[in-house]
Amino acid sequence: MNDILPAEIGRWHAVERAFRRTMEGLAYREIRTPYVEPTPLFVRAIGEETDVVQKEMYSFVHHDEPLTLRPEGTAGAVRAYVEHGVHNHEPITRWYYLGPMFRGERPARGRYRQFYQLGAECLGDAGPGCDAEMIDALAGFLREIGVEAPDVFINSIGSGDTRAKYREALVAALTPMKDSLSPDSQRRLTTNPLRILDSKHPADAEAVATAPTILDFLSEADRTHWDNLRRQLDALGTPYKVDPKLVRGLDYYTRTLFEIKGSYDKLGAGSTLIGGGRYDGMVKDLGGPAVPAIGFAAGLERLLIASNLEVSPSVVDVFVAPVGEGTDAPALVLARDARRAGLRCEVDTRKASMKAMLRRANALGARVCLIVGDREVAEGVVELKDLASQVQEKVARADVVARAAAVVGSPAPPPQEGGA
Ligand code: HAM
Repeated sequence: MNDILPAEIGRWHAVERAFRRTMEGLAYREIRTPYVEPTPLFVRAIGEETDVVQKEMYSFVHHDEPLTLRPEGTAGAVRAYVEHGVHNHEPITRWYYLGPMFRGERPARGRYRQFYQLGAECLGDAGPGCDAEMIDALAGFLREIGVEAPDVFINSIGSGDTRAKYREALVAALTPMKDSLSPDSQRRLTTNPLRILDSKHPADAEAVATAPTILDFLSEADRTHWDNLRRQLDALGTPYKVDPKLVRGLDYYTRTLFEIKGSYDKLGAGSTLIGGGRYDGMVKDLGGPAVPAIGFAAGLERLLIASNLEVSPSVVDVFVAPVGEGTDAPALVLARDARRAGLRCEVDTRKASMKAMLRRANALGARVCLIVGDREVAEGVVELKDLASQVQEKVARADVVARAAAVVGSPAPPPQEGGA
């Protein structure tokens, strides 16, 4: 679990802003659900046989109630959707969320125990138009935050019938090789055979390579959905790769699955930036009507590692430096006036030396220093120093905030060659 210090927070805010802009542009609205939910919600929604439920949840019992720190956002969103009867008020619901999730995983670069997700859920549309729209928008979002050449992988795991048939064929194909499989995959052969396709264990490589592919088992309706998804992605011009081995680690998925990777040099090939898919059965499983749905989540820390976005380190626009005895109150008033004009401003309340105040102004990335001296107060003027050009001018107190705003809004001169 990480501290995120103010020096890093500018990049977090920039990615969060871009995410909100993207989602609101697609008519999504923010939802906030609790960080803690009843444990059975996650077991039911995510699946008993998943790594998340079996090994990674932070669960505890409080006053006889089993509770869990949310490992992901979909289960809570669907619980809220059902609990508030949202389907009664709107035919399509588009929700996005940002916030911490908790999984007791082995920590690594880009893998933490408290991590942040940016996610969204679209409920009420069976697709595939909204599937294609979501994938295309996410590829655009990644490019906007400076993730170069994002790689989109898609697959379909069909609906219940398709999976039942495929499961049978997969078990039939893998059973003769059972003894050569990793211990986890041997167990999964009976509990959750599709997850074997996802195994990174070297012992499973041959089985995974020779296994039948689910795309050959799609029912007619699943095949139509899949073909239309591809046609619409093609029309949008979003490049993608079909990965028939893509199964993902949560059990609620149906039909469309997708993952987006990128910046392999910074993250390694195993690290997924965004994962999502369709979960047409969950609303009903959690006590609601049969409502189809699709969603995704991105790991914010991973996006920040992958992104080459740079943000200005400047903390204030204006620094107010009082000099002399009776200048503390006039300095406070001036700083407040500057803030009312929309300028970010720190006023030195320490009675520090001029040298220390200028050092502080520069460290905060101020463009302008307003020097308030006793004589200036008496004369009704302020010394305005442009810290980029080093030019200093005397400005009437009544005009100084407007003048400071103009300097802040003007381009900084290029650094002087050989200058200090
Ligand atoms: P997920 O694949 O489990 O899907 O997680 C989505 C993303 O969260 C991952 O691709 C990764 O970027 C990030 N992530 C997951 N675990 C960690 C971790 N321990 N540390 C850092 N980042 C992590 C879901 O959570 C689904 N709820 C997505 C979804 C929404 N599907 C439908 N709707």
